[in-house]
Amino acid sequence: MEKIIDETKQGSALLQEQKASNTKKLFIESYGCQMNFNDSEIVASILADIGYNTTNLLEEADLVLVNTCSIRDKAEQTIRKRLEKYNAVKREENPDMKVGVLGCMAERLKEKLLEEEKIVDLVVGPDAYKDLPNLLKEVEEGREAVNVILSKDETYGDISPVRLGGNGVTAFVSITRGCDNMCTFCVVPFTRGRERSRDPYSIINEVNDLAKNGYKEITLLGQNVDSYLWYGGGLKKDFKNASEIQKATAINFAQLLDMVATAQPHIRIRFSTSNPQDMTEDVLHTMARHRNICKYIHLPFQSGSNRILKEMNRQHTREEYMELIDKIREILPGCSISHDIITGFPTETEEDHQDTLSLMEYVKYDYGFMFMYSERPGTLAARKLEDDVPEEVKKRRLTEIVDLQREHSAFRTQEMVGKVVEVLIEREARKSDEEWSGRTPQNTVAVFPKEHYKPGDFVNVKILDCTSATLIGEAVGYSENQLKSNNF
Ligand code: 5AD
Ligand code: SF4
Repeated sequence: MEKIIDETKQGSALLQEQKASNTKKLFIESYGCQMNFNDSEIVASILADIGYNTTNLLEEADLVLVNTCSIRDKAEQTIRKRLEKYNAVKREENPDMKVGVLGCMAERLKEKLLEEEKIVDLVVGPDAYKDLPNLLKEVEEGREAVNVILSKDETYGDISPVRLGGNGVTAFVSITRGCDNMCTFCVVPFTRGRERSRDPYSIINEVNDLAKNGYKEITLLGQNVDSYLWYGGGLKKDFKNASEIQKATAINFAQLLDMVATAQPHIRIRFSTSNPQDMTEDVLHTMARHRNICKYIHLPFQSGSNRILKEMNRQHTREEYMELIDKIREILPGCSISHDIITGFPTETEEDHQDTLSLMEYVKYDYGFMFMYSERPGTLAARKLEDDVPEEVKKRRLTEIVDLQREHSAFRTQEMVGKVVEVLIEREARKSDEEWSGRTPQNTVAVFPKEHYKPGDFVNVKILDCTSATLIGEAVGYSENQLKSNNF
């Protein structure tokens, strides 16, 4: 599962390359995971071809699209509030404006938003974005338009995303879509469909294009990147049986990483999300071999209790997870690790909760994403298990987990004080316009005085101080990566 920028929104996005001939205005917002943010860039690209440039002014939009997240109830509630806002603007200021819902909520609620609630004009699921031009014609002709058909092979590999609202330094590249894992709490397999891998050559082309356009860091995205598999120029469905697949030359995630890192040795490579059961030693060795692959792994574990992991249908035990952590520490010393945890899953006892805390103690994660269980309609957990952990118990357990994580994050940032680390400058620091903000390969945010440096520079920063989430330092010169890439 990918890392969630949960319940937050991307500020309305501004297209970087607007087409002068385009006359219509698109306002597009994204909620949820990084994949959604990348999908919105694909949507902007499809719509740029039929006359839409993006705007960050809701009031002047001809078309408002919201790319949605269904992972927890709270995410859906946030988006519903936004829909109310769009409809108020439509009523009071811009009656011709059309409103559409994209992504997971579109897939989950289907016609309901159109027919029962009548709050949108357009509903488009994550695999139907290429149908947007047709759907918009329907809308223009006064009909409601829906396409929520999920696909077994759509990867949008042939579409070059328009980079929205970004910093021109870091970008996402999708490599797989969908998820076959069927964790019992998770709505994603229903909303984003079956897992499929994208043609590696289209991935390399996109990475090369980004490098040409000055991007310095690329995150390869998928719900489960480690299960990436490309069958020698075909898709799984093109083969009759398993032995036919075996005969074809396949490219797995370790090989893809190797290809990407080799193609662009001066671009930083990240990836997310890793699933413990699919992460092979090969991936770790590939990371060790390439200095430009960031030594950072997002490795959700959800619960430290074997009984709960089984109820969750996670394909790993606590012990297997710990073994993988040991391997990471051995093969990639200094690698940072982050997690996702769900607390208050049905039937979770105090003992199960203690197992989660003790696993956290074992790993001492750099940071993590921690959530209270939210029952999602249609999932196996919702059908089979009662949501029986009281809200106040869930809240208390979450507080304990968050507090422990804060201690561990502080421990990890403290370890960096006195060291010199490579920081890729992304933007001005939030708290001071005299400082830059960027990230270390370990994905920790670092801030330091601007001097003569600029966004996109790789700079060596001496860390002088820290909070639990941020390193504070001063630049001591360009890093070797910057010097080798001759980019300044
Ligand atoms: N309730 C709470 N958290 C959830 N996640 C997924 N489904 C749910 C749910 N029903 C969390 C998992 C996942 C992350 C992206 O969101 O921790 O890894
Ligand atoms: Fe992630 Fe499991 Fe959901 Fe797949 S089913 S997206 S692995 S949490």
